[in-house]
Amino acid sequence: MARTLSRRRLGRIPRVTVFAVALAGAAIALTIPSAGLGSQASADQKCELSVFSWWTGGGEAAGLDKLIKIWNKSHPDCPFKNETVAGGAGTNAKAVLAQRLKAGNPPDSFQGHAGSELRDYIKAGQIVPIDFIYKAGGFGKVIPASLINQIRYNGKLYSVPVNIHRANVLWYNPKTLRANKITVPKTWGQFIASLNKAKDAGLIPLAMGEQWTAQHLMETVMIGTLGPSGWAALWKPNSQKRWASKAVTSALNRYATLLGYTNSDAGSLTWQDAGKLVADGKAAFNVMGDWEDGYFSGTKKGGNLALKPGTQYGWAPVPGTDGVYDWLSDSFTLPKGAPHRAAAVEWLTFLGSRLAQDTFNPVKGSIPARKDARVGLYGPYLKTALKDWKADKLAGSLTHGVVAPAAWATDIGTALGQFLQTKDVARFQAALVKAAQKNS
Ligand code: GAL
Repeated sequence: MARTLSRRRLGRIPRVTVFAVALAGAAIALTIPSAGLGSQASADQKCELSVFSWWTGGGEAAGLDKLIKIWNKSHPDCPFKNETVAGGAGTNAKAVLAQRLKAGNPPDSFQGHAGSELRDYIKAGQIVPIDFIYKAGGFGKVIPASLINQIRYNGKLYSVPVNIHRANVLWYNPKTLRANKITVPKTWGQFIASLNKAKDAGLIPLAMGEQWTAQHLMETVMIGTLGPSGWAALWKPNSQKRWASKAVTSALNRYATLLGYTNSDAGSLTWQDAGKLVADGKAAFNVMGDWEDGYFSGTKKGGNLALKPGTQYGWAPVPGTDGVYDWLSDSFTLPKGAPHRAAAVEWLTFLGSRLAQDTFNPVKGSIPARKDARVGLYGPYLKTALKDWKADKLAGSLTHGVVAPAAWATDIGTALGQFLQTKDVARFQAALVKAAQKNS
């Protein structure tokens, strides 16, 4: 690591040390403010940067680990305290976080999805504006306006996005498909034909996991059936009529059909378990976000499968969603009353840097929120994602916090839980209409 190159003022932070870090052979100048924490450390007895997330498995943990290593190296006086709570999509973590925030015991920074999820925290007064971090880091110029709009509320900015994920990906194992003469489907009709072939071959046609993964599948089928504008209309004010439409009925019928091709033990599997069924040649397909790329291609040491992209696993848009990016973004916040505020500000500043984003995302299985990614650092799947993100129409994710506030998402989740038992489409749609009536 090279020595200090320059100093300049960074928002509220008095001194800034600039490091040059070698990353994939390229020397990248990184601004990590490191001064000021020593004095805070003595005032607080012990400075520890507590960061709350749900990144405990697969490429999630491996990506976070890379950030922790850089942080700890540059902040020996305020080491990272990893406060992760296991459970995909943050289903458990968000409940634990809500309790902590209610009890006035916030971490220094926590993970939250850009969009409605973030707005819930803002409206509850649980996080504070961080415009000064954007200004100091010049983030406004490098993060796309469409994403910043999901982070701004009443003219103020509330989090630093580390990535963009795509939810509507159909994963498969090329060898399994070849051996059973199953083709990668593009249309709904082709999808059903391929699922039937897989069934006849004795495979699990469509691997699925616990309930949030069922909702994840549902949103992709709805987007594929309604199109991105029909989907967006569902989240506008007074949308109950749209939820009652024939188009939604046909999307839900399609979804019910797909559920007939899933594994009976889905409820007890994590998203990694479901993905592994495909990797192991036991299932033909799995619909999951592109964190699965991190899990499939990541190192065994990091708890991943170390598969070769393109030959040992393949990907395609969920049938009917070609040209659509069902997107979500992980971002980090500055909670009100963060115990080590200065450290948290430095953490957020670091997260917005090109170094942090180009270190984290190739491992996590996501593309950076910044527009200036070093494309060469990304694997084959992520290279396609980088292109598609620029070209595709956008649809915000329901399961991952973009389009619906928590209260509405919870009502949808309750209705879905019942539907997974009853498979009664009419009742399900009626419950979804009621949820829209109450929340839209
Ligand atoms: C999403 C999150 C991703 C990934 C996934 C599975 O909600 O945005 O980063 O972690 O859950 O846990």
